[in-house]
Amino acid sequence: MADEGSPHVRRKRYRGTHPRHFSEKYKEHNYQDFPEDLAKVLARGATPAGSHRPICMAEILAVLAPVPGETAVDATLGHGGHASALLRAIAPGGRLIGFDQDAVELARTSARIVKALADEPGGLGSFMPVHADFSRMRECLDLQGIAGADLILADIGLSSMQIDDPERGFSFKRNGRLDMRMDRDSGPSAAQWLAAVSEESLAVAISTNADEEAAVAIARAICQRRGLLATTRDLAEAIVSAFPGATFRDTAMKKVLMRSFQAIRIEVNGEFAALDSLLATLPSCLNPGGRVAILTFHSGEERRVEASFAAGLEAGLYASIASLAIRPGREERNANPRSASARLRWAIAP
Ligand SMILES: C[S@@+](CC[C@H](N)C(=O)[O-])C[C@H]1O[C@@H](n2cnc3c(N)ncnc32)[C@H](O)[C@@H]1O
Repeated sequence: MADEGSPHVRRKRYRGTHPRHFSEKYKEHNYQDFPEDLAKVLARGATPAGSHRPICMAEILAVLAPVPGETAVDATLGHGGHASALLRAIAPGGRLIGFDQDAVELARTSARIVKALADEPGGLGSFMPVHADFSRMRECLDLQGIAGADLILADIGLSSMQIDDPERGFSFKRNGRLDMRMDRDSGPSAAQWLAAVSEESLAVAISTNADEEAAVAIARAICQRRGLLATTRDLAEAIVSAFPGATFRDTAMKKVLMRSFQAIRIEVNGEFAALDSLLATLPSCLNPGGRVAILTFHSGEERRVEASFAAGLEAGLYASIASLAIRPGREERNANPRSASARLRWAIAP
């Protein structure tokens, strides 16, 4: 349903009885207008196209314990699910600064949040979107004249909008240009990076970033097809060629593909360096008694968060930290399979 006064836009035509391509799923992209269709997608454990289901929401609200009037930072705004809940909890009088390095999704999410704020009787406080890498958090808070945050959330990695959109080139399940950049205005695409990286460095990246045992063979197979890797399918075929007799349909092969794509994406976006910088700057961004929660999705991320919080506790930069990672409950893992690998850790400033 179009807004009153907005021009009627004809929906995309598709073949068959159901839309299959990401861009054709017009009901999911406009899920607020099709609640029954949304319920069906959620009931089968899927994520509606063009959206993201916030993970560990109750656990995050419990550890961040937001109260009215506080200053919150969402380092990874994404679809704004966590941010919207935090804005509600810090109202009235609170403010939320939302970072994302993905300019495309940041603009969409900001528009939705601004509209929700305007629709809320009494208002929800203020919202400031920031298009920046979260490693620049201290500098960006200074620019806004903000001394510190009472609570900071970082939900590391990719949003479902990014994974599911073939145009972004993140997933072996959907063919698209081999891009993989969260910030499309910055740095080389995956195709450009793969054209330049040495076979040895690629093998190290696949092994270290994704604990992939066949990293050497995969790196060799990818490098043998250098110059021919323009799409996600080209890359997937190169990886499968490292395993004679294997096909895309093999469950074990799908896991290899998932790990290899993850490892390459981490390099293309400099994800570990950004996370290390964020962890280093966090204590300087928190007000006294401020709380930080970080949601990670694989061991490379979790190890970093655990080590940094432990070192911060030792150095007196934190007063207390999570002794164990919190996992999403069984109900959430069943309802949203994308939550399965999530681990939540928190720390509190002195
Ligand atoms: C898992 S999603 C966050 C989902 C969000 N919590 C929600 O409720 O919708 C992660 C988001 O963080 C962004 N991101 C990842 N690394 C970033 C970085 N270094 N700096 C800024 N944004 C980053 C991604 O572009 C993506 O939009």
